[in-house]
Formats: sequence, C-alpha cells, structure tokens
Amino acid sequence: MSVPPTPPHDRAAVLCGLAGWLPPRVVTNEELSRRLDTSDAWIRSRTGIGRRHLAEPGQATSDLAVEAGRRALGSAGVDDVDAVVVATTTPDRSCPATAPLVADRLGLTGVAAFDVGAVCTGFVYGLASAAGLIAAGVAERVLLIGADTYSTIVDPDDRSNAIIFGDGAGAVVLRAGHADEPGAVGHFDLGSDGAGEELIMVAAGGSRQRSGTGPVALRDHHFAMRGKEVYRHAVTRMTASARATLTLADHKVDDIDRIVPHQANLRILHSVADDLGLPTERLVSNVGSVGNTGAASIPLALADAAARRTIHAGERVLLTAFGGGLTWGSCLLTWPALARTDHPHHTGGTQEP
Ligand code: UT7
Repeated sequence: MSVPPTPPHDRAAVLCGLAGWLPPRVVTNEELSRRLDTSDAWIRSRTGIGRRHLAEPGQATSDLAVEAGRRALGSAGVDDVDAVVVATTTPDRSCPATAPLVADRLGLTGVAAFDVGAVCTGFVYGLASAAGLIAAGVAERVLLIGADTYSTIVDPDDRSNAIIFGDGAGAVVLRAGHADEPGAVGHFDLGSDGAGEELIMVAAGGSRQRSGTGPVALRDHHFAMRGKEVYRHAVTRMTASARATLTLADHKVDDIDRIVPHQANLRILHSVADDLGLPTERLVSNVGSVGNTGAASIPLALADAAARRTIHAGERVLLTAFGGGLTWGSCLLTWPALARTDHPHHTGGTQEP
C-alpha cells in the first residue's frame, strides 16, 4: 500500500468494533479432576477458574480467529479494512504467519497482514502496532485479533498448566479518528525483559532447537512455565506498567473506572487491583469461565463485559497485560458507544460458573 503524507498530530486509532468467539467444547474442573491429580476446590481456590473452552482436534488458531474477526467486522458495521493483525503464540504453522490466511478467509485478500508475538501481552502489543499504522496514516482501518489455542501446546497430563489455559479469540476493529474522542486508544506503556526467557517457554520448534523425534522431543514441544515466579512477575509488572501509563496520561488511579488485566488467574487480578488501590468492583474479569486464553484474554473479557453491559460508554478503561518474553504493556482508552456487542459464544454468554 502507498503511504500518504504526514498525518495530523491529533489523528488516533479509535475502537469501533468488538467481538469474541469461544470453541463450543466446555471442559469443567470436574472433568479435569477425573484424569488429573487435582480437584475443583484446588483449581478454584488457586486460580478462580471453574471451566474453560477447548478447541476440537483439528481446529487451529485461524479457525477461532476467523470467527472472532467476522463478528468484530459485523460489530463495527464494516466489511473491509486495510490491515489484519493477529496476536498469537499458537500460530497455525511456524511459517507462514497466520494473519494472511485469516485475512483471506474473511474475504480481505490483498490487505497488509502480519502476526504479533508477545505471548499473553500480544493483544496490547498488537493494539499499539495497529494504532501506529493508523496514526502514521498507513491504514484507515485495522482488524486486530488476539487468538490462541493453548490446548495444542500444553501437555494434557501437566496438571499445573492444563488447569489454567483455555482456547479462544477476541477481535477489535480500529478506525482513524481523533485523539480526544471516545474509543481513542493511548497512552501506551510497553516493555520487555528477555533475561526471563526461561520462565515461560516452548523449548523446541524454533531455530534454537529444531524439531526432533522421540519422547524427549515431544516434551520440548510442550509449553513450560515456572508458575510461582511468573505469578510474582505478573503482579509486579502489570502494576508497574499500569502506573507508568497513568503517569504518561497525567491521570490518578482514582480516574480509572474499569481495569481489564490479562486474565491469568483471579488471585493475580485481585493483587494487581489491590496494589494499585483500585476497588475490586472496578475489575473486569471472565477468567472463571474461560481460563487464561493468552492473547485473546483481554478482548474476550471486554466483549463479555460489553455484552453483559458491565462496561459503559464514557468510562475510563485501563488495559494491562503480562506474558512470556518476559513482556508487559498497558493502554488507556475511554469506552466508546459500540453499536453491537454479542456474547463471545455462539450459544450464549460466559456467565461465571
Ligand atoms: O499467562 C501468563 C501468566 N501465567 C500466569 O499468570 C500463571 C501464574 N502462576 C499461577 O497462576 C500459579 O503459580 C499456579 C496456578 C500455576 C500454581 O499455583 P501455586 O499456588 O503457585 O501453586 P504451586 O505451583 O506453588 O504448587 C503448590 C502445590 C505443589 O505441591 P507441593 O510441591 O507443595 O507438594 C504442586 O505440585 O500444588 C501442587 N499443584 C497442584 N495440586 C493440585 C500444582 N498444580 C496442581 C493442581 N492440583 N492442578
């Protein structure tokens, strides 16, 4: 695409469409407890999770992304965009990226399309990338999808991780607008610390350790996480990033009506809200019914809150995320009046279990 002349300074990306999609198969804690050495009580008390949706065998990340993307375009009332960005840790293949395929399946062949890899911070990094394309005048409209199928990389016999993760996709449409209108995204805080690479990792399948055969190789293709250390980082990094974003925007904590953290674990979300001094009533969470859905978690939580009318036009919303890398990021926006927001599941809502 050709690049137009320098855009005006008040040009910004404005949220104008939102949707989520969850695969129909629901896996409860009871079901997991039948084949793993765990219990509903343990999972609920340590994570706040009651159930999660899992993709069927053969269902790939792009299949979820297309469903969420189609619904987000419908929510925005548009059928074309200039770019499709997919934030994911579980692309359909290591090569090529998933976004071009998603764009093609949405009838958007020919538009710019690329993936963003920032693990559970992927949606916030993707939001900054999409906002940058719009602010720079490179695109007028962008479809951003956070989609992950962690069930394809988590060892089903690993009780620490199998209980946490769920599959899903959430999507937003951003259009060019003004920095001072509702829905305009920004300020942003983004960061990383690669010294923490080993805390969250899939060891094999990349250039450092290529694919092999045998049981050891299979284990190395599974998702590995040092849960306790990650927990501590998740709380401190999201809290610090949220504070940095408020400072950039010259806002106080009390100016925030809704905080939407990456849905990692309910205890982590409560700690972040507590450390910031925000009452838990301002916390947006759907982790109880979907688990940790990676890059999909923030847009799925937003879509769920919008459909249930627990987030309202005019409210100041703070998004904050933490993930492998290590990576973290936050973003502020004033919630816009969206024309249409459906529950992120084709058969109904995602009520807390
Ligand atoms: O999206 C990226 C961000 N990811 C996260 O935010 C995840 C962060 N970490 C966590 O959410 C928690 O660390 C976990 C939920 C993964 C684990 O909870 P924890 O309270 O940190 O437990 P732990 O790892 O310290 O394990 C405590 C005990 C251990 O047994 P011992 O060594 O004390 O005998 C574990 O083996 O609990 C055991 N355990 C379980 N027991 C029953 C671990 N998983 C389970 C399980 N059921 N599913």
